[in-house]
Amino acid sequence: MRKHLIAPSLLAADFTRLAEEIDLVNRSEADWLHYDVMDGRFVPNISFGLVILEAVRKMSTKPIDVHLMIVEPEKYVEAFRKAGADVITVHAEACPHLHRTIHQIKESGAKAGVALNPHTPVNILENVIEHIDLVCVMSVNPGFGGQKFIYQTLPKTRQLKEMIISSNSQALIEIDGGVGLHNAESLLQAGADVLVAGNSVFGAKDPEATIRQLKAFEAVFDY
Ligand code: DX5
Ligand code: ZN
Repeated sequence: MRKHLIAPSLLAADFTRLAEEIDLVNRSEADWLHYDVMDGRFVPNISFGLVILEAVRKMSTKPIDVHLMIVEPEKYVEAFRKAGADVITVHAEACPHLHRTIHQIKESGAKAGVALNPHTPVNILENVIEHIDLVCVMSVNPGFGGQKFIYQTLPKTRQLKEMIISSNSQALIEIDGGVGLHNAESLLQAGADVLVAGNSVFGAKDPEATIRQLKAFEAVFDY
């Protein structure tokens, strides 16, 4: 049984102390660092991009999990890989040629992730699931940190887990948005493998302890 992974989301960090915040993640039990790229087109907000990623790459000792909330992500796959991405996740809704984009990511040397907005059904992945390393189930509408978790994510995660098992896919299920100590256990029981946590970690009194607590949950999915 594989242990779940914790990926603190840098979007919720204090950017006036970016090096310290990354150091905190380096010291912690976190597995990945989640990096949200927003373009003001696919989502109504703009965050950070390639040059900041290059700096983050130099400071982070953890693999960087890049979540591209951008239109035409295929134009930037190689650039994000070069800037330091270990996992590159694109939105299914932004990719008319999803199969091609998944292979493009793998050829770049990164692990390939596909994200689904809350309204996007999991069956959109039926014909590509065996090629994907990670499915990011959005549990909020992407664009902002600190939003309320959408509970429909739980049955959706179970459904996706069934699809992954029946197709012999190795894809990890990542949950992104509104994740914290209050819902981590039910998400793991539903089949989650990676928990992204922004405000629940960086907004906590003791972020390192929160990461430890998120990591310590034992609820394992029953195959
Ligand atoms: C939302 C982003 C998330 C966000 C999560 O569009 O994709 O990764 O940073 O933040 P919290 O955990 O605060 O909801
Ligand atoms: Zn994200």
